[in-house]
Amino acid sequence: MKIDPHTHDRSMYRTLTGLVVPRPIGWVSTQNEEGTDNLAPYSFFNVASVDPPILLLSPGDRPDGLTDTAENARTTGEFVVNLVTHEFAKAMNQTSAELPSTESEFDHADVERTTSDRVDPPRVAGTAAAFECVLHDIIDIGSNSLILGEVVLVHVRDDITTADGKVDTNQVILLLGLLVVSTTGQRTGL
Ligand SMILES: Cc1cc2nc3c(=O)[nH]c(=O)nc-3n(C[C@H](O)[C@H](O)[C@H](O)COP(=O)(O)O)c2cc1C
Repeated sequence: MKIDPHTHDRSMYRTLTGLVVPRPIGWVSTQNEEGTDNLAPYSFFNVASVDPPILLLSPGDRPDGLTDTAENARTTGEFVVNLVTHEFAKAMNQTSAELPSTESEFDHADVERTTSDRVDPPRVAGTAAAFECVLHDIIDIGSNSLILGEVVLVHVRDDITTADGKVDTNQVILLLGLLVVSTTGQRTGL
């Protein structure tokens, strides 16, 4: 099979997201200008550069406009990407609910907050790692907002560090477990 995006009569979503697997899930916390905390998972998430340390996420527009995450990142310039491991899979899925921007997914999914050190949006308490970010740039690509965030602080839980103070990637992979993103329905290995 060959797929030419210019002649393909359907969205390229299934082709792209079905082949680029597994993808990590960034669980992104933001705040709106009124101070309501927002939390949502994004699998269009990865490392963009090392020096400066920049992460990328790419929310897709909703039919009625930006997602709350994209809107809040644009208006406040701050967000936290929390790493999702298997123990948080169920709560993470619950935070993908499309709530009004006046309601917090932290409360909806009963996720515990903890304060961040360098940015206003809270972190998810207890995650294996969290990246506090300030907005570097946003590039509008079609119906996606490619959000680039400079990492200003990384929180790493003790159990994923080695004795000589480095990140223990094998341990991270063990904690991710069967948590993978596929193309169908609710996208985790629950
Ligand atoms: C595992 C998982 C991964 C997701 N990845 C994305 C993604 O990469 N891009 C996107 O636009 N929506 C993604 N979603 C859907 C959003 O989380 C969902 O639209 C959510 O309501 C957005 O919330 P917000 O408006 O509070 O930002 C994903 C959902 C799940 C469960």
